[in-house]
This record gives sequence, structure tokens and C-alpha cells, in this order.
Amino acid sequence: MPSAPPEIHEAAGRVLDGMDPLRRRTFALRLDRWWTDLIDPLTLLYGDAAGALANTLVAAAATAFRDREEDLHELDERRLLAPDWFQQPSVIGYAAYADRFAGSLAQVGDHLSYLTELGVHYLHLMPLLRAREGDNDGGYAVADYRAVDTRLGTIDDLRLLAGRLRGAGISLVIDLVLNHVAREHAWARAARAGDPKYRNYFRIYPDRTEPDAYESFLPEVFPDFAPGSFTWDDEAQGWVWTTFNSYQWDVNWANPEVFAEYAEIVLFLANLGVEVLRLDAIAFVWKRLGTDCQNQPEVHEITQALRAVVRIACPAVVFKAEAIVAPNQLVQYLGQGTHHGKVSDIAYHNSLMVQVWSTLATGDVTLTARALGSLPPKPSTAAWVTYARCHDDIGWAISDEDAAAVGLSGPAHRNFLSDWYAGRYPGSPARGVVFQYNPQTGDRRISGTAAALAGLAAADDDAAAADRAVARILLAHLIVFGWGGIPVIWSGDELGERGDPQWADEPGHAGDNRWVHRPRLDWSRAEQRHDPSTAPGRVFGGLAHAARVRAGIQALHAAVEAQVLPLHGSGILPVIRRHPMGTHVGLYNVTTHWRPYPAHEALGSGAREMLHDAQLVPDPQGLLWLPPLTGWWILSDPS
Ligand code: GLC
Repeated sequence: MPSAPPEIHEAAGRVLDGMDPLRRRTFALRLDRWWTDLIDPLTLLYGDAAGALANTLVAAAATAFRDREEDLHELDERRLLAPDWFQQPSVIGYAAYADRFAGSLAQVGDHLSYLTELGVHYLHLMPLLRAREGDNDGGYAVADYRAVDTRLGTIDDLRLLAGRLRGAGISLVIDLVLNHVAREHAWARAARAGDPKYRNYFRIYPDRTEPDAYESFLPEVFPDFAPGSFTWDDEAQGWVWTTFNSYQWDVNWANPEVFAEYAEIVLFLANLGVEVLRLDAIAFVWKRLGTDCQNQPEVHEITQALRAVVRIACPAVVFKAEAIVAPNQLVQYLGQGTHHGKVSDIAYHNSLMVQVWSTLATGDVTLTARALGSLPPKPSTAAWVTYARCHDDIGWAISDEDAAAVGLSGPAHRNFLSDWYAGRYPGSPARGVVFQYNPQTGDRRISGTAAALAGLAAADDDAAAADRAVARILLAHLIVFGWGGIPVIWSGDELGERGDPQWADEPGHAGDNRWVHRPRLDWSRAEQRHDPSTAPGRVFGGLAHAARVRAGIQALHAAVEAQVLPLHGSGILPVIRRHPMGTHVGLYNVTTHWRPYPAHEALGSGAREMLHDAQLVPDPQGLLWLPPLTGWWILSDPS
């Protein structure tokens, strides 16, 4: 493996001058180890400019390394000693808006015991850096990466919170929005003021020629409230590339200066104690005419080079790809081919989430088994983020091929799911709302909390309906917990929160019904969490219990792959994980009836059902009977 050239070491050496020699040696070793990971993608991306950029990046990495707190240096060492820390079955995640969860960053720190009770070791705080005033896409329109939203606190509050979380064994995860900045960000302001340096940070076109050429291949992300992908800006006198909202300006990653800016931002956030960076909308960062401008190969080069910078300066930090893309594209974000082990270690399992809701609506696992069974395996060093709900809507990402393979029509099934979850299908207990109806494609995405989708919001005085809804919420989460990876609970779902009926009243929210499932945490509801006669008590208790059980099952370590076992009937989803320390079979009955599964398929020697701590006894026909809407986790000796 070629090491870094002497002039690069010298540049770093100048920054580290006067530091403890052993520390300096650590930096030099890391630089050599990750040099090719850095320079190769930079050369591919920026050609002749790569050398100078690498120099700048290494100097920035050295500066961050020099300034990194002692505690964080120690964390780096710990993580290097246990690089699979995020794959451990004990790692349960929680995602929340700091203000909606607790009020402010400082107040988040006052609720650590609540999180710990739920088994949380990974806390994703939704965008908290300073966003533009007014409508800002839930904070995804960043105006200043080096400041915190004043309503939440200060940069020092963030640093302090990261430290408190670390002390409690919880890793802080925050968003790095790197496809776009707010129109109000200093770079965009300078671009509008006519500074050519900053104009080149964006993609601004004088007339419609290029936008039209690109647009004929581009899907619309927000067809409803932000149609098209370009916005005319009077001040800039041009069409600005705006994939998302008109106030979110896409940055130009083909410009090496943009790369250097983001590398500095990453190092800055790392030194605050952030451990996981969620690479927001990463699929979109590279544009190529004649394509949909998603998943371009350069995206993975960019990620690899950024990751190399991090590995040199602050190896405790890992990346999570937010790539909500087709399953055959998704695995590349976790490193395929030359990028294996070099890009993001964590990515969202959007397909699993979609399938959970699809299977719960139909009471039939056939499509789910097919869709999950045909996913390419992920690298053994990576982990999925598995989730039942998140802050975004649900788009019915079910391919026509998978649907056809099980005798369904893709469009008709997606249509059914939208109807079902909007509560418009006869007999549906769901109370979601339609998000971004696209008349051209017929797509209707869905907003709603887990409780709204599972039927708790509609159950009111019907105790049996409420029981079924609670069972569905728990089952959805058991599938997610049992798949392997980092299961992330979306704030409020652990209490069966129904959603925010007043979501539209807050300034800037009225047009975006995703706010219906981003309620402020109801702490009076949280007080019921230990009372099993209440819905919050049953959901919270069920999730906390599953988290505790999970922590003890090494077969749920993310290194091994989950596989769908052959189906016996259409009501039970069987998932097997063969780990050297044990074989785990998850059986999930998605119907409202008892269903059988052959015992010999599920039980190995020494088998025990872990959630109920029971030995399972088959009936005389050799069948195990699963109660309605129930999940079992069966652990056997290694097979
Ligand atoms: C991601 C976020 C979503 C946001 C978009 C634009 O997809 O999850 O909430 O609207 O990026 O930043």
C-alpha cells in the first residue's frame, strides 16, 4: 500500500509541531494507511486539482486532530479497538427533534434516563444547525453549519450534550446536509452578490437550455409544493438547481473548493463529539446530463474521500447514508467493489420499512418474502438502520417486478396501500394522510405516526381494535428489531402517539403534512409508560423488553445477513440469521388469526423463544402455532 508522499507528511508535521511524538506518530500512521483511499477518488473526481486539494485536506485533518479533545482521542482508540460497535445487538436507536422531544439541547440531556430505559445507545437529533428563518424543510435548509439553531441552544450546548450522551453510552448522530444549502447561506448570498468564486459553488444557468435538457430526465421530489428542479432567482439572474424546495440550493460538488468546505465542516462537527453523520440526500450530489442525477458513481468517490479524511483525524466517526433509492442501488452506499469498507457503514433499509406496512395491510407475507429475499447482501462490516417510521413520509417503493412475481400489479398494489393507509379502503383502521399526490405517476405517499397507521388513532373506545393496533405497532417493531442492524425508534412511536392534530398551525408547516407525525413528545403520556393497562405502557414496555432481550442475542449482530426462510402459508414471515454464536429465527404472524409453522424449520437444538423466555412445544402434527399479530424470536445452538 503506497504511503503518503513526504511533502504531505511535512504539511501535516508543520501543523502538529510541538505535539507529543507518540500522537504525531499516530497521525502519520493513519495518514499512510488511508492515503490511497483519499487520493484515488480525489484524482478521479478532480484530476489535476487533486494534489493541492489533498494537501489542504490533510492540513485540515491535522488541525482537527491537534485540537481534538482528550476524551475524543480516547473514543477514537476505543472505536478502533471495537470497529463493530454500531453492529452490536445492544445498539438501539432513537430519532427526535430536540425541541419536540425536550425543548432545547440542554433539556435533551435531562431525559437520558428515559432513553436509557428504552435501551437507546444511538440518538439521532434531527437537523439542529442554524437553518433559514421561516420554512426550512424541518431544518434541512442550513444557513450556517457552524452554529446551532438559536431556539435550541449554542454550539457549546451541543458539545456539552454530546459529552453527556457519551458518558451515558449514547452516540450522537446528526445530519450533514451536503446536497444543498439554504438560499440564505453565506455562499449563496455571495453568489447572488456576483462573486464568481461562490457562483461556482452552485449550478446556476443563464437560461432554460441546460435546465430543460437536465429536467427531461429528472423525477420531481416535491411535485406538490416545489415542482421542477430549477428555480429562477432574480438576484442571481439565473436558474438555480434546486432539487428539493426552491430555497434549497444544490451545491456543485464538481468544484474541489466545495469538497474542501464540507471536509472542514465534517471535522468541525466531529470535534464537537458527533459520532455518526447522516449524509442527507447523498444520492443526489453528483449530476450527469442524460441521467436522473441520482446514484452516480462519483457519489461513492466523494463519500470515500470524505471518509478517509475522517479516518485520519477522528476515526470514531462513521457515516450513515440517507439514500432512499431502489434496492439494487442501495447496497452500493455500504461499499461495493473498490469502495468496500470505505464509504458509509450504515444505511437506511427503506425496503424493509415499506414491506412491514405492506404486509400488515394485506395480512399476507408473499410479496414481502419475495422483495426482501431478492435484495443483494450487504457487506459484513456494515449495518442497516431498520425502522418502522421516520420523520419522512412513506413512498411505496415496491417494484413492478417484485409485485408481478407474486401475481400482483405494482401500480394497483401501491394504490391499495395509499388507500389503506389514508383510511379510504373499506375496513382499514389506518388514519394516515396523503403526501405529495403526483397526478402524472399516480403516486400518493403517506404521512402518519406508527399508531395512526396501525389503527390506534381510530380505535377510541373499541378495546379489541386498540389491542390489535398495539399488537401491530409492536409487531412492526419486532420485525425491525429482529432483522439485524440498528433499529431506530421514531420519537413518539414508543408511546403510541397518534400524531399532531394541530400540525398545520405552526408557521411554515401548513403545506407539509409530514409534521402530522412529528408531534411534540407528550410527557404526560410518557408517565404512563410503566402502566401495562395503558397503550403507552404496552408499547413502551414491549419495546424496552425487546431491546433488553435483543442485547443478549449475539445472532442479531449486524455482521451476518438476515434471510427469509421458505414460506409455509402466507401468514407468517420467517427470518433466519445464522451466526457462529447461535441461529436466530424470527417468526412474525401478520394476520389476525392463529397460524401454524413447521417446528422442524424453526427449532434447532437447544431452541428457546427469547421474548417470552419459553420452550416451544409443537402440536402432534409438528406445528408451532403463533397467536395473531405476534412475533417470536427463537434462538438455537449454532447450526
Ligand atoms: C432528506 C430528508 C427530508 C428532506 C430532504 C431534503 O430526504 O429526510 O426530510 O426533505 O432530505 O433535505
